[in-house]
Amino acid sequence: MTVYTATTTAPVNIATLKYWGKRDKTLNLPTNSSISVTLSQDDLRTLTSVSTCETFTQDKLFLNGHQESLESERTQMCLKDLRSLRRALEESDPSLPKISEWKLQIVSENNFPTAAGLASSAAGFSALVVAISKLYKLPQSMSEISKIARKGSGSACRSLFGGYVAWEMGDELDGSDSKAVEVAPLEHWSNMKAAILVVSADKKDTPSTSGMQTTVKTSDLFQWRIKEVVPKRFEEMKAAIIAKDFTTFADLTMKDSNSFHATCLDSFPPIFYLNDTSKKIIKLIHSINEFYGETVAAYTFDAGPNAVIYYLEENEDKVFGFLYKLFQNVEGWDSKFTSERLSALASAFNDLKQSVPFPLDEDIQKGVSRIILTQVGPGPQDTEESLVDANGNPKI
Ligand SMILES: *[C@@H]1O[C@H](CO)[C@@H](O)[C@H](O)[C@H]1NC(C)=O
Ligand SMILES: *[C@@H]1O[C@H](CO)[C@@H](O)[C@H](O)[C@H]1NC(C)=O
Repeated sequence: MTVYTATTTAPVNIATLKYWGKRDKTLNLPTNSSISVTLSQDDLRTLTSVSTCETFTQDKLFLNGHQESLESERTQMCLKDLRSLRRALEESDPSLPKISEWKLQIVSENNFPTAAGLASSAAGFSALVVAISKLYKLPQSMSEISKIARKGSGSACRSLFGGYVAWEMGDELDGSDSKAVEVAPLEHWSNMKAAILVVSADKKDTPSTSGMQTTVKTSDLFQWRIKEVVPKRFEEMKAAIIAKDFTTFADLTMKDSNSFHATCLDSFPPIFYLNDTSKKIIKLIHSINEFYGETVAAYTFDAGPNAVIYYLEENEDKVFGFLYKLFQNVEGWDSKFTSERLSALASAFNDLKQSVPFPLDEDIQKGVSRIILTQVGPGPQDTEESLVDANGNPKI
């Protein structure tokens, strides 16, 4: 029995111009375009292997070692689209094996704890769709394939590219032009770094799909956001990325995070994703920027209290003087820094401390469980690793 297999990795992406609001819930079509930065897979990635064989009797999914249901409508839509592209290929070339008719086994693993409280669905759906499109040897471009990932999880479409990515909302009712495109590759602005402060590893209070629907239906502020704010900001942010203008990029990123959370608060009933620790982090970043008299760091928050701080590598000492001082007891520093580097950061900050004009709130640390140090990274990658054996079954 011939067994066909394919494997890919896929990254997490964090939006700097937020996706919030659907114009079509089933097809995951957004009310607006959005922009994100793809993060390095050394720190955050999904690895997915897929296999198919004529003797498989049902589609199966294994996630982090456990068999999971494949029943969800979203996953089913992805499988159906991928199979129909493969079928078209088989019809155009009768010498191809008819694997579109066979069942699939999908085996997937994250290299970060699911408990890190990070939206892993973007990396997950992106990896699933890319792995199957490789298995099927589909000729479609990444942008084309991104439309399928979008149906699984909206923001997953942006994980099909590395670097700086836009999800173009499109106009068509069937979503045929709602896809991800590259704004700039990783190499264009490779010194962009990110530090994730994990405030909560819990599941979200209000799942984003239902939160979005409430906002679209009830928030007046949201109508202003989609008509006036986002269209302008979309062009400005793309231009800032092309120009590698960190100050503009950072200001737009922070403003857009605040605008998105303001529409959550303006929903009825209101939705709260930021908590007191998140708010303290917002204040801290503004104080740091003010202290240096330049924008060295930008915060952004998704539908939860975790902060993602973007900064440029050359400003690492400036940013981490403060962050290390305040968060030195949380997990995660030693993944990137030697103890010498960390004590240098601590002592450099001690010299500076006298001139810091705002109080350092040492309590902020209590609300944070870990820091994930990462940076801008590439899109889905081929790999020698595989999660399935020669029979196409999950390796234990
Ligand atoms: C955002 O949505 C508004 C309202 O639907 C639309 O007029 C505008 O063109 C959209 N633009 C972008 C860039 O998302
Ligand atoms: C913020 O939320 C997280 C999780 O819900 C909680 O663990 C933490 O204590 C909260 N912090 C503050 C200051 O409210």
